Amino acid sequence: MLRDIQAAFGPFLGRIWINAAHQGPLPCAAAEEAYEAVDWKVCPYNLTTERFSGVPERLRQTLRKLTGAGENEIVLANSASYGLHLLANGIPLQPGDEVLLMRGDFPSDIFPWLGLEKKGVKVRFITPRHAVVEPDELLTHITSRTRVFCTTWVHSLSGWAVDLDTLGSICRDHGAYFVLNASQAVGARPLDLAGPLVDAVTCVGFKWLCGPYGTGFLWLHPELRDRLDYNQAYWLSMQTADDLGRPDATPAIRDDLGARRYDVFGTANFFNFKPWAASIEYLLSLGIDRIADHDQELVSRLIDGLDHLDYQLFSPRSGDRRSTLVFFSHRDPNRNEEIWKSLREEAVFISYRAGKLRAAPHLYNTPEEIDRLLELLGRLA
Ligand SMILES: Cc1ncc(COP(=O)(O)O)c(C=O)c1O
Repeated sequence: MLRDIQAAFGPFLGRIWINAAHQGPLPCAAAEEAYEAVDWKVCPYNLTTERFSGVPERLRQTLRKLTGAGENEIVLANSASYGLHLLANGIPLQPGDEVLLMRGDFPSDIFPWLGLEKKGVKVRFITPRHAVVEPDELLTHITSRTRVFCTTWVHSLSGWAVDLDTLGSICRDHGAYFVLNASQAVGARPLDLAGPLVDAVTCVGFKWLCGPYGTGFLWLHPELRDRLDYNQAYWLSMQTADDLGRPDATPAIRDDLGARRYDVFGTANFFNFKPWAASIEYLLSLGIDRIADHDQELVSRLIDGLDHLDYQLFSPRSGDRRSTLVFFSHRDPNRNEEIWKSLREEAVFISYRAGKLRAAPHLYNTPEEIDRLLELLGRLA
């Protein structure tokens, strides 16, 4: 299987990309679809109405397969921030209501809520004692005025995953919406919306889902979807381009669209959404469970190897809270940036984040590539 997967990406030309937490590479099958999309634009007679309208529909159905979402629950987006802004601007919040966030969370989870302060909404931060908010910390901070708790599933700056189920049930018990940013998780671990008690999941498409940059989605629980109060009526959601040909077409707002009503403008964005649908279809054809197993084997190999070197691990060693983001540091943290740059010169790409080194292996990486990273880390230490 591994050899087939390697051949389905790249060419990497000898470079080792262990950095899906930054950008996941586009699979070759998806690149082919991107070239086809360019042809649709170069030769617009090839861009039939069926093709144009088929782009968002194919993507929505693919995302439903990926997430198990219902028919009217997926919003097509261009980022994680799109969904977060829709929620921040659409959840009916009153002066005195509270939004709880994690101090040190990825900035996309913080900025959309900050603007609500001028309406009298209180934005409060939980400072985690370790890396992410633990259930007892949420319990200490949540109040009867808390309407929303927003956090990442897997924290980009520590590699820790939150305890989804327990945080979700605390929110449910207190009548607060649980908003989850799954950008560093979906594609590398299964998401089953029937399981965790979340009300909204926002996610980018360009990391673990290996889509183009400028892709994302938002899942909305129907109860929250129907409570959103947000004036959005994109004409291509309300009607089709074909309606323009009708002599009697009168613009009228439809209220039967479900979450689709909130799709990002330019929903038939074929340059991005066509290849992204192909990327997800490819991942689904392999099986997200199998990909997760493969990724975790690579993570274990890396962590085992680091134990024998002069580096300290900061992300979890094992268990559910471990993700595919491995954070570690040289015993002298001042050397991390230089080590990261030297790795790049040796054609091994990881990230330097929050003063530490971050490796993020995904399906196209091999055990040999992890060994090469370890060998270089040993030499550079
Ligand atoms: C957790 C998380 N959320 C969101 C993003 C990106 O957000 P957006 O798509 O809104 O630019 C990233 C990384 O770029 C991330 O790590």
